[in-house]
Amino acid sequence: MPTPIIKIDAISKSFGTFKVLDGLSMQVMPGEKLALIGPSGSGKTTILRILMTLERIDGGHIQIDGEQLYHMERNGQLLPADERHLTRMRQKIGMVFQLFNLFPHKCVMDNVTLAPMLTKGTPRAAAEKRAMELLEMVGMADKAKSMPAQLSGGQKQRVAIARALALSPKIMLFDEVTSALDPELVEEVMNVMRKLAAETDMTMLLVTHEMGFAHDFADRVLFFDRGRIVEEGKPDEIFRNPKQERTQGFLKKIIAAGHRV
Ligand SMILES: Nc1ncnc2c1ncn2[C@@H]1O[C@H](COP(=O)(O)OP(=O)(O)OP(=O)(O)O)[C@@H](O)[C@H]1O
Ligand SMILES: [Mg+2]
Repeated sequence: MPTPIIKIDAISKSFGTFKVLDGLSMQVMPGEKLALIGPSGSGKTTILRILMTLERIDGGHIQIDGEQLYHMERNGQLLPADERHLTRMRQKIGMVFQLFNLFPHKCVMDNVTLAPMLTKGTPRAAAEKRAMELLEMVGMADKAKSMPAQLSGGQKQRVAIARALALSPKIMLFDEVTSALDPELVEEVMNVMRKLAAETDMTMLLVTHEMGFAHDFADRVLFFDRGRIVEEGKPDEIFRNPKQERTQGFLKKIIAAGHRV
């Protein structure tokens, strides 16, 4: 039995008095492509931000790749992680956000090479070679010298994907990477993501409101409501034959709003 690459164990998280997550547990196997779906405010982004160490947890444990994320093991005891531990753990994970936050004053190539050169000490030549391969993969090689302002939203998002991949994370997190795009640009980014999902053995977590995309992308779908997993299963099970009333209601609403499932 292989060990999970992500093991979330009874985590809780509040913002002020509002409890977003209350004892959430879930596991992700290496190479798995997971889609997280659910109504607005159900905690999907919070989970990704916690994994990316952009938010702290109030309780519980998270293991990434066999190591504690927010704790350090010292003499058989679990102590809160220090900044050095978090920095090291963070390198295992890459994230792409809804709003492609590229460095506006750097060209596409520099956007992709900067982090490997600064955080991993990769020599420029090697970083640029890898960057070209990644830009090739996302169909942006011919724009390597362009500035972000000269790119469409879809192109920026494809560069943002290449930039996150440049650090060779074991786990990639995608939070609604198509929802800020004009409709005609959504498909090009989805195509890159589908290709990525099919071709790499990286573990990927995708949050999306596009159910058709979740269906194509994922091996497993988790339906969240109010910080809890209401139902999980293979895409066909969740989308064609949901068992829980809340999942059925959610999908009905999505279809009524004109989305493809
Ligand atoms: N920094 C914050 N401060 C206060 N409340 C927050 C903060 N971040 C999230 N929340 C609240 O936590 C809940 C979960 O938010 P989250 O962004 O994780 O939901 P989501 O499932 O990603 O929703 P959406 O589909 O709209 O993106 C929401 O009620 C939100 O208002
Ligand atoms: Mg969100």
